Amino acid sequence: MEVKKYNTAITGVGMYVPDKVLDNKFFESIVDTNDEWIQTRTGIKERRIIEDGATSDLGARAILDLLASSNTSAEEIDVIIVATVTPDMFFPSTACLIQDKIGAKNAFGFDLSAACSGFLFALETGAGLVESGKYKKVVVVGADKMSSITDYTDRNTCILFGDGAAAVMLEPNEDIRYGIQDSILRIDGSGWESLRMLGGGSKNPSSHETIDKKMHYIYQDGKAVFKFAVKGMADVSVEIMEKNNLTSDDIAYLVPHQANLRIIDATAKRMGITNDKVTMNIDRYGNTTAATIPLCLTEYYRTGKIKKGDNLILAAFGAGFTWGAHYLVWSME
Ligand code: COA
Repeated sequence: MEVKKYNTAITGVGMYVPDKVLDNKFFESIVDTNDEWIQTRTGIKERRIIEDGATSDLGARAILDLLASSNTSAEEIDVIIVATVTPDMFFPSTACLIQDKIGAKNAFGFDLSAACSGFLFALETGAGLVESGKYKKVVVVGADKMSSITDYTDRNTCILFGDGAAAVMLEPNEDIRYGIQDSILRIDGSGWESLRMLGGGSKNPSSHETIDKKMHYIYQDGKAVFKFAVKGMADVSVEIMEKNNLTSDDIAYLVPHQANLRIIDATAKRMGITNDKVTMNIDRYGNTTAATIPLCLTEYYRTGKIKKGDNLILAAFGAGFTWGAHYLVWSME
């Protein structure tokens, strides 16, 4: 067996969330809902939306925050991977637009579409590029302007989503006790109908009809997604623990995708992890799709809760269906 010389570690973090807050009272004024229902069924109190700007603006600001806090210049970036389902446009890619906005003139990059699992899929891709030996500084950013595809007359979906972005820097790491240790990632397209945006693509190009039928908005069968999410996210999280001989005591934090507090609680319970070891910010940001996990990493690291040597399990699920988990050992002081 080949001996691993190095693996991939997160060496910087950054984030951006817009200032404009939509609280539950706001939703009471536009759809038939109430604060109590939203909080008990989802755990959400507020979400943020960007009023002037697109996904590339969210992503660029998160990367600039990462660069400033890690004393790195944009010219040093080799690769930019943007996980998103709300690209500024079909083409050029959001990665190109971000590259230009931040002045990363030596980078190549691309967008990656895996909905709420986007960050984990991009982490896997970025780690592969680092471990190829060819790239030294790979930025993975999860960025979504969910407000651009949300139907604010549909109470089933509009209360769930928010806008935001967060980024990590990936670099080779010689001390292989730290960094990304393992991953389990899956897709199952047979569930595609449960969570989707039908209009605007090659199947249903934009037309008056697609607009009239509201096909440019998120459609979700909430119950089907909920059922799948609870099982999918918990299954891979438990599997990755077992595969790496980790007990719940070994884990400093479960860092789950923030879609619904009840889904997060069910996953933690299956893993035997208590609530104090689960990162959480769904109450303030709602579901920001590809941004939820790196937002949690950034906030928990910056407030001193995630520390060097901590065992973390990152877990996500999303439209597709897509789902997965990573096991990593935090390497930043
Ligand atoms: N306010 C008040 N009532 C609402 C509501 C809202 N915002 N949204 C839905 N309801 C109603 C439904 O219309 C339904 O009413 P009915 O029984 O008269 O038809 C009732 O609440 C119960 O709906 P149900 O679907 O059983 O609720 P739920 O407990 O499944 O919660 C979700 C709904 C959307 C919160 C939940 O299904 C969910 O979180 N699903 C997964 C979503 C997700 O994670 N998506 C992102 C994937 S990455």
